Amino acid sequence: MNRSHNLTIAVSKGRILTEALPLLTELGIRPVEAPEQTRKLILETAKPGIKLVVVRATDVPTYVEYGAADLGIAGKDVLLEYGGKGLYEPVDLKIARCKMVLAGPKKEAKLNRRLRVATKYIKTTRDYFASRGEQVEIIKLYGSMELAPLLGLADRIVDLIDTGNTLKANGLVPLELITWISSRLIVNTAAMKMKHELIKPIINQLEQLCK
Ligand code: ATP
Ligand code: PRP
Repeated sequence: MNRSHNLTIAVSKGRILTEALPLLTELGIRPVEAPEQTRKLILETAKPGIKLVVVRATDVPTYVEYGAADLGIAGKDVLLEYGGKGLYEPVDLKIARCKMVLAGPKKEAKLNRRLRVATKYIKTTRDYFASRGEQVEIIKLYGSMELAPLLGLADRIVDLIDTGNTLKANGLVPLELITWISSRLIVNTAAMKMKHELIKPIINQLEQLCK
């Protein structure tokens, strides 16, 4: 863990970082250098002792669980997939909101084999179908899930949608809502105890801001 008077916050790069920066700025945690104008991965902020690290979405819970970062900001999609061990998730920041859905082609010929579902959310998809008592074949992809049904790799996909434009542009439709998604503040369990006086005000302020 970081030294007791310092805090490190891991933030998913990309759209979550863009939407999290105004919130962090409200708390005075404004990066000294603009993240999009530097190649640095550790950013000092206007608050002495508080650093931001900008990492891939799926790596945020790992940094926080192991205490390399005390706090993190990550999408609920990533947290569901990670499994949530060793982390507190005290605040729904209500940013980067979207839905996780099961989607597929508008028309589909009847299948006489097990349904194939392509996704980067293997665990969440497995849990979803298990809760319905359905057995499906899950195919792991790392991006552009919408391609899979178009090329016959899979019958369905599990992916995120916001405007629905990506599905529509590829001739697909949402079939079932799996869950609503937004970004969450996550906290390392040991840091929550050891750095309570630093972390608690951040939680309180974010709760107020994101009501
Ligand atoms: P990686 O760097 O691992 O390839 P990525 O390309 O998925 O990540 P982003 O597209 O920036 O990175 O998405 C990161 C997070 O943003 C997701 O985990 C999710 O919580 C949220 N998100 C993804 N797509 C949308 C969307 N269309 N609308 C709103 N939020 C989204
Ligand atoms: C996400 C998601 C969909 C798209 C949905 O992709 O995986 O492809 O957004 O948004 P829409 O409903 O508003 O069209 P993203 O833009 O993050 O691209 P990537 O996952 O390929 O990086």
